[in-house]
Amino acid sequence: MTEQRIALVTGGTGFVGANLLRRLVSDGWDVHVIVRPGSDLGMLSGIEHSIRVHVHDGSTEQLTAIVKFASPQIVFHLASLFLAQHTPQDIAPLINSNLLFSTQLVEAMSVTGVRHLINTGTSWQHYENKDYSPVCLYAATKQAFEAVLTYYVDAAQLAAVTLQLFDTYGPNDPRAKLFTLLRKTACSGEPLLMSPGEQLIDLVYIDDVLDAYLLAADRLLQSQVNRHEIYAVTSGEPIKLCDLVEMYSRIIGLPLAVEWGARAYRLREVMLPWNQGQVVPGWKPKVALAAGIALMEHNIRLSEQTAKR
Ligand SMILES: NC(=O)c1ccc[n+]([C@@H]2O[C@H](COP(=O)([O-])OP(=O)(O)OC[C@H]3O[C@@H](n4cnc5c(N)ncnc54)[C@H](OP(=O)(O)O)[C@@H]3O)[C@@H](O)[C@H]2O)c1
Repeated sequence: MTEQRIALVTGGTGFVGANLLRRLVSDGWDVHVIVRPGSDLGMLSGIEHSIRVHVHDGSTEQLTAIVKFASPQIVFHLASLFLAQHTPQDIAPLINSNLLFSTQLVEAMSVTGVRHLINTGTSWQHYENKDYSPVCLYAATKQAFEAVLTYYVDAAQLAAVTLQLFDTYGPNDPRAKLFTLLRKTACSGEPLLMSPGEQLIDLVYIDDVLDAYLLAADRLLQSQVNRHEIYAVTSGEPIKLCDLVEMYSRIIGLPLAVEWGARAYRLREVMLPWNQGQVVPGWKPKVALAAGIALMEHNIRLSEQTAKR
């Protein structure tokens, strides 16, 4: 009989995290999730009875008690505040979510003897393909946590894998991301003001992203991880934004009134996504972009039909 695998997940109420929870549950893991007092649990609908939800009160002590209670083989750390650009008011929440909470988590792991972490970074730590140049402050906080993690790897013998994600997409995405905006525009027929659209975008379908997490978990469970390994979860096939919009419009069968060049590029716009990272050994994306968009659209139409009934 195989040993029951136990996972502790942060960020489980977000897009990637909620999908990861579903995958872990269906793969037979015993799943614990850490949420905040005000977290919206809507993304957990249908699996709420198959997972254990722990509400973190913000303290290191209580987080330690949660980690001790769950005693996971793997901590999947996905919680984060994402902001492409920040204002002075964002500093505290950014540091809170991306650095303080993350450090409390690894402290709790080291105190309780939990040794395996999968951390989540971003390709935006590598502006203009540099080893480290953050696109924005959010990316800088991700790098800062990796620096903190080095201490716990060296001093507390944590084994860690950081998965640096690129753009992710798939069905049931509540985030105000590109495809949500495009679909809204296509349905309303209103014009959409965009930059010139020459930037390359690297999109990975959610199921492929989850495969990378599970392969990383296997590496940790099989003691294959050398201290802290960092991998890129990249499609390897970036596409120009203007070509992506054309492809999307063709697949969903609706025209899109995009006014290219009506907006300027963002400060430090990523024109060329990082392409120097290694992928998790054995991982490669299975869902091609056109197929992924079609799958996503099929799913949205099914949900719309169900909602109408
Ligand atoms: N998706 C992408 O395209 C992409 C690209 C690069 C990197 N990433 C990284 O991938 C991970 C998942 O991304 P996502 O798009 O799925 O995120 P998301 O939908 O924005 O969800 C963020 C999650 O983090 C939780 N969280 C934030 N601050 C927290 C705190 N202080 N304590 C506990 N939980 C906290 C949120 O909980 P609440 O419900 O309480 O708000 C939510 O569950 C993140 O680390 C993100 O930085 C994503």
